Amino acid sequence: MSEEQIAASVERRALRFDPERFQGEYPVVVEGLVNRFDGIAVHEGLDLKVRRGEVLGVVGGSGTGKSVLMRSIIGLQVPDEGQIEVLGHKVTDLAEGSQADIRSRWGVLFQGGALFSTLTVGENVEVPLREFYPEIEPELRHEIARYKVRLSGLPEDAASKFPSELSGGMKKRAGLARALALDPELLFLDEPTAGLDPVGAAAFDRLTRELADVLGLTVFLITHDLDTLYEICDRVAVLADRKVIAVGTIPELLALDHPWIQEYFNGPRGRAAKASQERAKAMDKPAGGKA
Ligand SMILES: Nc1ncnc2c1ncn2[C@@H]1O[C@H](COP(=O)(O)OP(=O)(O)OP(=O)(O)O)[C@@H](O)[C@H]1O
Ligand SMILES: [Mg+2]
Repeated sequence: MSEEQIAASVERRALRFDPERFQGEYPVVVEGLVNRFDGIAVHEGLDLKVRRGEVLGVVGGSGTGKSVLMRSIIGLQVPDEGQIEVLGHKVTDLAEGSQADIRSRWGVLFQGGALFSTLTVGENVEVPLREFYPEIEPELRHEIARYKVRLSGLPEDAASKFPSELSGGMKKRAGLARALALDPELLFLDEPTAGLDPVGAAAFDRLTRELADVLGLTVFLITHDLDTLYEICDRVAVLADRKVIAVGTIPELLALDHPWIQEYFNGPRGRAAKASQERAKAMDKPAGGKA
């Protein structure tokens, strides 16, 4: 498929559902973002646009401010300067009431998972439902939660388990189920495959891509995982020098001669991830190699 065809198919997927959903081109627009802690700038004039329907990978060295960027976009971190627009609303100057409204249109999986340890998985998924739709009858709410648990690839009985009874990979899926509780348009994932074994990480990646495609989600995905970038991301944004220094497909990024980008994608791990993706592609091709 050509890039244009891919863009058109992403567009169709993103528009297939609720016509009340965001119709603009960029569900997230960050302009001139500045964040400082104790006088030290983490972001200094950062700009970023996320396209509707894409899975955008966000990479950068540890401490470059990926999580702070995500927290700024979802309104948990008030920036020192700059404008942030999400789904057509300026989150940087929203009144309390309308903030609640917009918060119900995105789902978040935090870096640590952040499940409530005293609640079962099902109850965790019900938390946002209780907050935003208190009128829903308990029976229906349980039903929705069970559905989201299944959608995240967990067995049905996981809903009645406590987080401490789950493996790391299952906890991530439980966190994903909670992020999907309100049928979001936007999904924020902060290092979703960190700490998973390669098989578990690959399965989580496939699930993310599948959900993005089937549900028409736009995904903001922070990751260090090169396989994830190659396998499921449409574009990648690179954080360095307190800014987003580049956004594009991996081949586009490779054409740039920024030292961090070259080191990251062309280092031994980057080459291994690329080779593994090429092998997978070759296996998908019909015999004779003419795809
Ligand atoms: N609430 C806070 N108070 C003070 N400093 C903070 C706060 N939050 C983040 N920082 C600092 O901002 C910088 C960026 O942090 P952030 O968590 O966004 O990094 P990151 O890119 O997500 O790193 P990692 O890949 O390790 O998760 C770090 O130096 C961190 O110490
Ligand atoms: Mg982080």
